[in-house]
Amino acid sequence: MIFSDKDIAQFAQLETPFYYYDLNLLQQTLDACAKYANLYNFHVHYAMKANFNPKVVGRVKAMGFGADAVSGGEVRQAIDLGFPAGQIVFAGVGKSDKEINYALDQDIFCFNVESIQELEVINDLAAKKGKVAKVAIRINPNVDAHTHQNITTGLDENKFGINSWDLPDCATVLKQSENLQFIGIHFHIGSQITNLDVYKNLCVRVNEFAAWFTERGFAVKVLNVGGGLGIDYHSPDQQIPDFENYFKIFNEFLNVGHGQEVHFELGRALVGQSASVISQVLYVKNGKKKNFIVLDVGMTELMRPALYQAYHKIQNISKSATAGDAAGAVEGFTKYDVVGPICESTDCFGKEVELPETFRGDYIAIRSTGAYGEVMASNYNLREDVRVAFIE
Ligand code: LLP
Repeated sequence: MIFSDKDIAQFAQLETPFYYYDLNLLQQTLDACAKYANLYNFHVHYAMKANFNPKVVGRVKAMGFGADAVSGGEVRQAIDLGFPAGQIVFAGVGKSDKEINYALDQDIFCFNVESIQELEVINDLAAKKGKVAKVAIRINPNVDAHTHQNITTGLDENKFGINSWDLPDCATVLKQSENLQFIGIHFHIGSQITNLDVYKNLCVRVNEFAAWFTERGFAVKVLNVGGGLGIDYHSPDQQIPDFENYFKIFNEFLNVGHGQEVHFELGRALVGQSASVISQVLYVKNGKKKNFIVLDVGMTELMRPALYQAYHKIQNISKSATAGDAAGAVEGFTKYDVVGPICESTDCFGKEVELPETFRGDYIAIRSTGAYGEVMASNYNLREDVRVAFIE
């Protein structure tokens, strides 16, 4: 997404701040993903949590991808937006009875189950409805995703999934539960993974666990390897993630038997680059030690920097479409801390960001905000609901 004069002229008609979605770029990204996944007949489920905006999800659905939901609300949104129930998977460490009952009523494809107790609860609830629930066991494979500690999920100390030492008990419960049908195993080791070698390690573990279940008489029909493929936040114009090499690794390193399906749950990689937050400068404060740009967007609209110290490229697009926070000093550029209006010190989008001299009213783009952006917004400080606009 590179901003043209036409875009900037359009911004004058809109009230900042807002998420600006480029649906053409989204489409190109989805096409690239489908192209390489289809080479190996891999099934992609879109992780709705990354972005459940109906227009965005509509594009994903039109590709024939399935949906990965993490709450009853996301299962409902997937159904409402037209995903066939048979293509919806439901994950999460804390599924409530109400959510499980709703998903059972919808006859979703499967529950990705995260504890032995959850297996027992789903079995009981399914029995009361006279149904058989399809389940995949989410296993914690103890694989280090080498990503930010707040978004790593596959280590022994994480709360997600069933640990390997609990699998014998898990197998016993599965065998005793008449209202459960085991369909396979599920993994998700973390998010924003940029070192693809990590996935080779995951494949080795998936192969071991699949063999473990097979040896005990279980038919492992589905190998669900989760999501996590990262995007390049530093080069948002490098827009399409490396789906080619990503899928190739699974094709090379995963043992896929006859009749087995490989499922993926991608979120960020599909939608991350397709939006920027567009905001305007409210105030510029030139201090003795620091210069501040105060934006009209806050952590209430884009929480990632405050929550994970996440990096998003910041550009003053009123000055030049290409100007940005280049590494190192740039002649004529000033260092600013770029902050929001919320009454929290962590409401900061970047420190010492190199930008051309900036003034009240300038348009600032915060890039790569299509994933975990709009969906994580809140009304804290009684802020207005988040706004959106689309390039179609
Ligand atoms: N499957 C499961 C079971 C997950 O927990 C997640 C993400 C995904 C798939 C999709 O992961 P992705 O492909 O998007 O990496 N709010 C954080 C990210 C949290 C990810 C949670 N789980 C952030 O803003 O970085």
